[in-house]
Amino acid sequence: MSAKPVTKIESRKPAPKSSPFVSDISAIRARARKHIEDGAITDSYAADRQAVIKLLNEALATEIVCVLRYKRHYFMASGLMADAIKSEFLQHANEEQAHADRIAERIVQLGGEPDLNPDVLSKRSHAEYVEGHDLRDMVKEDLVAERIAIDSYREIINYIGDKDTTTKRMMEDILAQEEEHADELADMLDGWTGK
Ligand SMILES: [Fe+2]
Ligand SMILES: [Fe+2]
Repeated sequence: MSAKPVTKIESRKPAPKSSPFVSDISAIRARARKHIEDGAITDSYAADRQAVIKLLNEALATEIVCVLRYKRHYFMASGLMADAIKSEFLQHANEEQAHADRIAERIVQLGGEPDLNPDVLSKRSHAEYVEGHDLRDMVKEDLVAERIAIDSYREIINYIGDKDTTTKRMMEDILAQEEEHADELADMLDGWTGK
């Protein structure tokens, strides 16, 4: 009886009983169980969690101050161009509020607490609360605040790097919207006529 020819498949080494991938999965599961109280944060979280929470609380304060400033501008806008610009102020206020909510949610996911104490919000905010004298002044102050937010958010993103991709992605989304805000405000100032 002639020996059966060895096929390519038969000549391959048998697969190890427990592949490295499977043992990795069980290690990951064990780690996940160990710190259940940490919620979404696992041992593989590579960033300095307390530093990220602190930075996010500063971004949160910045957003809240921006909401308040845009709301003030929305209610106080008057003059020939007020109607068109009022709706822009209100839309920005709502978008800054949505940013604040996302940031607060992420702080909680990281095991921190969103600091919304009104006594310290303006001190921690990167952007200022400036009321502005007239409509043009308001738009200018909003542009200044947006530019400050853009710079500080970019710094936060660079600091976090790839150590916390979820926070980084969130801040990149927010940064993109602040850039849109700044662009819209700059366009308004460009074509400005009257007070
Ligand atoms: Fe914002
Ligand atoms: Fe903004």
